Amino acid sequence: TKRVAIFISGGGSNMVRLLEDMVGDHPARAVLVLANDANAGGLKKAADLGIETAVVDHRPFNGDRAAFEAALQAKLDTVDPDILCLAGFMRVLTEGFVAPWEGRMLNIHPSLLPKYKGLHTHARALAAGDSEHGCTVHLVTPALDDGPILGQAKVAVQSDDTPETLAARVLTKEHLLYPAVLRRFAAGDPTPVML
Ligand code: GAR
Repeated sequence: TKRVAIFISGGGSNMVRLLEDMVGDHPARAVLVLANDANAGGLKKAADLGIETAVVDHRPFNGDRAAFEAALQAKLDTVDPDILCLAGFMRVLTEGFVAPWEGRMLNIHPSLLPKYKGLHTHARALAAGDSEHGCTVHLVTPALDDGPILGQAKVAVQSDDTPETLAARVLTKEHLLYPAVLRRFAAGDPTPVML
């Protein structure tokens, strides 16, 4: 059984879906949920589901990314995960942290990568007049929102969409996509999930 750690920054709805899926014959189990903010709503949800939680606040590090990342890694070392899932984790990780995890770290991003890396993906898709939008799960490499794609889910853009309505529709797809990808990845199946 693979051991999975999940990094979050906020409400953690994707994290909850991953935790709910990792039961029964699933090839992985969650061993830690870590947030960079003690106020992240997902921490209580993880604890309520019986998962160990941790906080490593980035702010006291005053921009010293290497020291912040060393603290993240030190916490991971206490639970020895095989797989690290970023799920709404809103800190950029540098190569020093990412390199040792390459091939074992997943991220979910709210766009059809390679379109719209970075922030404000829904507003950018609307501004571009795209008819299709969606979300991507990919392996994390040192380049932001780059790396091999493990799965994508598409939604149709509607003429009356706002960034908020579009984000909500994409999020429902994220909740299907991420568990499906993690299940396959943990089982060692490299076939991308296309929803
Ligand atoms: C999700 O939409 C996720 O794709 C996005 O943040 C949201 C987190 O929601 N991630 C990024 O924008 C990463 N740069 P959640 O906390 O409810 O899972």
